[in-house]
Amino acid sequence: MATGIPNKNQDKGLKNSGSIPFSLEYAGKVSIEDILESPPAKLTRVIKVKNALENQLIYGENLRVLRNLLENSDIAGKIGLIYIDPPYATGLGFESRQQAYAYHDFREGADYLEFIRQRLILLKELLADQGSIYVHLDQNMAFPVKILMDEIFGVKNFRNWITRKKCNPKNYTRNQYGNISDYILFYTKTDNYIWNQPFESWTEDKIIKEYQYIEEKTGRRYKKVPIHAPGERKGATGQPWRGMLPPPGKHWQYTPETLEEMDKKGEIYWSSTGNPRRKVYLDQSKGIAVQDIWLEFKDAHNQNIKITGYPTEKNLELLKRIIQASSNPGDLVLDAFVGSGTTVAVAEELKRQWIGIDNSLLAIETTIQRLVKGTQAMGDFVNGNGSLPKKEPLINTNRILKSGLEVYIESESDLEQVTDNQIENWNYLLNFQANLW
Ligand SMILES: C[S@@+](CC[C@H](N)C(=O)[O-])C[C@H]1O[C@@H](n2cnc3c(N)ncnc32)[C@H](O)[C@@H]1O
Repeated sequence: MATGIPNKNQDKGLKNSGSIPFSLEYAGKVSIEDILESPPAKLTRVIKVKNALENQLIYGENLRVLRNLLENSDIAGKIGLIYIDPPYATGLGFESRQQAYAYHDFREGADYLEFIRQRLILLKELLADQGSIYVHLDQNMAFPVKILMDEIFGVKNFRNWITRKKCNPKNYTRNQYGNISDYILFYTKTDNYIWNQPFESWTEDKIIKEYQYIEEKTGRRYKKVPIHAPGERKGATGQPWRGMLPPPGKHWQYTPETLEEMDKKGEIYWSSTGNPRRKVYLDQSKGIAVQDIWLEFKDAHNQNIKITGYPTEKNLELLKRIIQASSNPGDLVLDAFVGSGTTVAVAEELKRQWIGIDNSLLAIETTIQRLVKGTQAMGDFVNGNGSLPKKEPLINTNRILKSGLEVYIESESDLEQVTDNQIENWNYLLNFQANLW
């Protein structure tokens, strides 16, 4: 693999500073000022579960709700991590496993892009300076949304385009390759952001391949790596060491003084032709740093996997990876398309504070059920007798919610109305369960 040489004249923090900016043009692009001044949701608190840490579950149209949150000085600019998994412009309607209406994904083209862009503009304002945002999409819209995110968050704050394996290979009937991937765009608000590097554990196979050598005296496994790096330097790392200059176009990774110390400690390997290499020991490795292709987080793919039954529910281990990497306990995590509540359930388990928003009544209902009941094994979609899988009994469960919670609703005509009975039932479930602790 070829390694390019960084442009020495370019300031590190000003990636692409000299390039001509570009943007995505389409009809109906609203000005940022108008979006920031759009009318906020009027929210009513209908439930309060009193415990340490205050979380919020909000039933409402997220553009209006995000505008409302922007007016709250405890929240605006304080959100540590945002994960969103919005509709993907599939043109499909979605139902739960019990065939209840969940949500429509009918927006397309510029209408879809503007829908996402307006929410991203508000989300950026809500994000803390050290915050991160992850946007989950598929091949329909990931490319144009990347350009929008570059416009909104800045190219220099783009961190990763993560490819996730979402399912097992399928028997595709079309004349094209099977689609088993979707994508997560990772941006930060600034270049000073929370980052807890995730590592995968070494497997025996990988150890043998990567760390091929064993130090005779100590029995420690190690690999040999070059002690030079691309690019010429005028300072100490460009000077001779033991009479040797770094190879043309390269510099030493350490100053000659440090290399001398490393050699004294036996950390330099000398080949028979006098070529020095650095020893990197397996016992000093925390594991394999996670890269941007994630193969291990397929969505529910066998009958033992526990789910809520809400459509397009994401793998909770995927959310664990993201929340652990990009936030710390106590940080505020937001999901403005909360669906079955995967993000907020994981945030709760990992002791983060959270806010979840959705305009589907079924999503809110499912998230509440999940917080008090947990999830249930997927099982067969249809039982032997043709009936749908039965719900597990309510109590005696796998409850997730341990901290405080406020449930808000927005009473707008474009939303399905919540009945008093429903609120009473949620209140009972949440408060009854909360008081068990
Ligand atoms: C792909 S699903 C999210 C699934 C979720 N990540 C999970 O693991 O269950 C998208 C969600 O966005 C919600 N949604 C779509 N448009 C919305 C809007 N304008 N305001 C609030 N929620 C919206 C839908 O109701 C749906 O629940």
